[in-house]
Amino acid sequence: MKQVHLAAHFPGVNNTTVWSDPAAGSQIEFESFVHLARTAERGLFDFFFLAEGLRLREHRGQIYDLDVVGRPDTFTVVAALAGVTDRIGLTGTINTTFNEPFEVARQFATLDHLSDGRAGWNIVTSSDAFTGANFRRGGFLDHADRYARAEEFLNVAQAFWNSWQADAVVADEIYVEPSRIHTVEYRGEFFSVRGMATLPAGPQGQPVLLQAGDSEDGRSFGARHADAMFTLHGSLEDGQRYTADVKGRAAAAGRNPNELKVFPAATFVLGDSAADAAEKARHIRRQQVSGPTAIAMLEQVWGRDLSAYDPDGPLPDVDPTGDTSITQGRVRHGDPVAVARRYRDRAQAENLSIRDLVIAVTSRQQFVGTASQIADEMNRYVQADACDGFILVSHLTPHGLDDFVDQVVPLLQERRVYRTEYTGRTLREHLAGKAA
Ligand SMILES: Cc1cc2nc3c(=O)[nH]c(=O)nc-3n(C[C@H](O)[C@H](O)[C@H](O)COP(=O)(O)O)c2cc1C
Repeated sequence: MKQVHLAAHFPGVNNTTVWSDPAAGSQIEFESFVHLARTAERGLFDFFFLAEGLRLREHRGQIYDLDVVGRPDTFTVVAALAGVTDRIGLTGTINTTFNEPFEVARQFATLDHLSDGRAGWNIVTSSDAFTGANFRRGGFLDHADRYARAEEFLNVAQAFWNSWQADAVVADEIYVEPSRIHTVEYRGEFFSVRGMATLPAGPQGQPVLLQAGDSEDGRSFGARHADAMFTLHGSLEDGQRYTADVKGRAAAAGRNPNELKVFPAATFVLGDSAADAAEKARHIRRQQVSGPTAIAMLEQVWGRDLSAYDPDGPLPDVDPTGDTSITQGRVRHGDPVAVARRYRDRAQAENLSIRDLVIAVTSRQQFVGTASQIADEMNRYVQADACDGFILVSHLTPHGLDDFVDQVVPLLQERRVYRTEYTGRTLREHLAGKAA
């Protein structure tokens, strides 16, 4: 039987987290990060995961209401967590568009040393000009070039990681003859580098690489380079198609497809009975999508002011304007007219209000039920090759994983599809996932 892999998404800024719930804590205080990371480690998860948002989203000139809780810097957080955790992988999302390979290579090598081989890099190519405006050079990268730059970025970072050739490991110290620290020379379209790494690569050689990006180029890039893919293809059939696709690409690139793990984002709602869980899930969805949030979401697609519409009434009968500037910062909906048509058809067929429709179309894969039902469902997905595991996105920070670790993890262990202790030292060993 395949082993189930689990990872913990720090809820952060996204459409799942309900920061306004009375039970929710801070999303920026260190104690919140510590609690979630330690809980995930108690549950023997492969890794803790931070997404990246370098600019708060705006809607009609206002900061998006889901983003007001703030978002601290990735490296600082994961480095601090290295000091208060022992075995769990520490993974951060860092984009290849606004950074420099030398710096990122140095930061990940440092993190890998500090954490004793637990560093992971989720490579993203976010290239929107709105985010770019935060940076010295502005939004300077054509969307079409994002993976060409990512490819070169990774090449250069790898050249830095490989540039110290360790001669021997003596009492945990790596000794390197000065003559064996090589100059990195790289000339490409995006980078021209002649330099030297300031430290040897960490225990893993290079950090574990994850990739999130769903285009043809994104999938191929991940299939060639990544240890794991982070994806939103979380339903059973969609996950099976996606997994077959990216593992097929990995095989075509000459890799063993088992070395590429697939992790969809997954939300879950645990209840004492199936009915209790379903009721909780409905309540959470309505907390996540308020009337004004539902209108704002439709405005993103329609590109116009819809504030006169009743969220509990039918969808707008006017067509989208095609103006996508109403919302700034990472919104992905596709062609507005086609999306609007799909939404209207679905609302009509299922008799949904605006708010009901938004709740329906923004639902990600959810595991809703008793601990035993959730353990069985998750295991079924993994055994059916819809994925290798899940990056759990809980709706509450920082206690959202507590019940899962207490109740679901033991059942996965009972079913012999989940480790009972960490057998590996490094994150890459956790992903290789031998049963305990
Ligand atoms: C599952 C998933 C998670 C992502 N997470 C982030 C993120 O945390 N930060 C970010 O800037 N971009 C994120 N992205 C955006 C991608 O990195 C990428 O910029 C975008 O999807 C465009 O690439 P694509 O055309 O290959 O999909 C994510 C994308 C996916 C599919």
